[in-house]
Amino acid sequence: MAIWIDGKAQARALRETVADEVRRLGAHQGPVPGLAAVLVGDDPASQVYVRRKGEHAREVGMRSFEHCLPASTPQGELLSLIATLNRDPSVHGILVQLPLPAHIDPEAIIDAIDPAKDVDGFHPLNVGALAAGGEGLAPCTPLGCIRLLQSHLGELTGKHAVVLGRSRIVGRPLASLLLREDCTVTVAHSKTSNPAKVCRQGDILVAAVGQPGLVQGDWVKAGATVIDVGITRLGDGDSRRLVGDVDAACVSRVAGALTPVPGGVGPMTIACLLHNTLIAACRQHGLPDPHDRAPSERLHLTHPHE
Ligand code: GUN
Repeated sequence: MAIWIDGKAQARALRETVADEVRRLGAHQGPVPGLAAVLVGDDPASQVYVRRKGEHAREVGMRSFEHCLPASTPQGELLSLIATLNRDPSVHGILVQLPLPAHIDPEAIIDAIDPAKDVDGFHPLNVGALAAGGEGLAPCTPLGCIRLLQSHLGELTGKHAVVLGRSRIVGRPLASLLLREDCTVTVAHSKTSNPAKVCRQGDILVAAVGQPGLVQGDWVKAGATVIDVGITRLGDGDSRRLVGDVDAACVSRVAGALTPVPGGVGPMTIACLLHNTLIAACRQHGLPDPHDRAPSERLHLTHPHE
C-alpha cells in the first residue's frame, strides 16, 4: 500500500519556517510582510479561502489587508484599488481571488498588479520569467506540489514527471518548475491519445484536471509518487465531500506514495502564498531571498536604509 503524503503537516512546517523568518525580520528592523487579498462578490467558497488566507497571514506575524467588494463593482473601481495597493509600501503581496464576476476581465486585473507584488505568480512577467527558467514569483499550487514531492523523494533530478492537465494555474507552471528541478517532463491533456499509457511512464504523476476519479490504478507505474491536485465538491448538505482526480482506493495499491484529498495539496497552497509574500517583502527591501540565506547571514540582517 502507498504511503500517504501529509500535506497538512508539511504546510504547518512551512508556516512555522515563514513565521521564524518574519520574527527574524522584525528583530532586525526589517519589514513586516503585508498581504492584501481582494474578493469581488459573495461566492461562499472564495469567501472561505480569502478568510483563511488572512487568518494564516496573521498567524505567521504578517499584516493582512482584506478588501471585500460587492459583485457589482465596476472594473475601473477594482483597477483603482489595485493601483492604490501597488503604491502602498505596507503591502508586499496582492492577490485578487478568482474567479471574478463576468463583467470584469481577469487579464486586465492581473496585468495591473505590480509584478513584484504578484504573489499568485499570474502576471505575464512572472509567467515569462518562470517559462524562461529565471527568477520571478511562481504560482502557489505548483510550488506546493514541488515541496510535497521533495518531502517524499528528496532530489527530483532525472525523474520522469508526467503532468496531467495544462491549465495556466497548475499544469503549465508546474511543468516549468519540474524542468527547473531537472526532471524529464511530459504534459498530458484532454487531446492526448492514450493518456493512461502516458501517465504510466511517470516516476512522478501529478493529476490536475478537475475530473473526479479519472486516474485509475492502471494509469500509474508501480511505486510512483502521485500528487492529486484536483478538488471537486460533490453532493449537498451532509453528503458534501471533496474528491480528487485520483481514484485513491485503487491507485493506493499501485503507487509508492499518494497525497490525500483533502489534506494534500490544498493546505500547501496557502503556506506557499505566505512564503511568496515573505520573498516579495524581502526583495522589495533589497534583502536576499529567505531560503537562499545561510544561517550565519541571518544574524547580520539589517534594514536596507541603515
Ligand atoms: N482561485 C482558485 N485558485 C486560486 C489561486 O490560486 N489564486 C487566486 N487568486 N484565486 C484562485
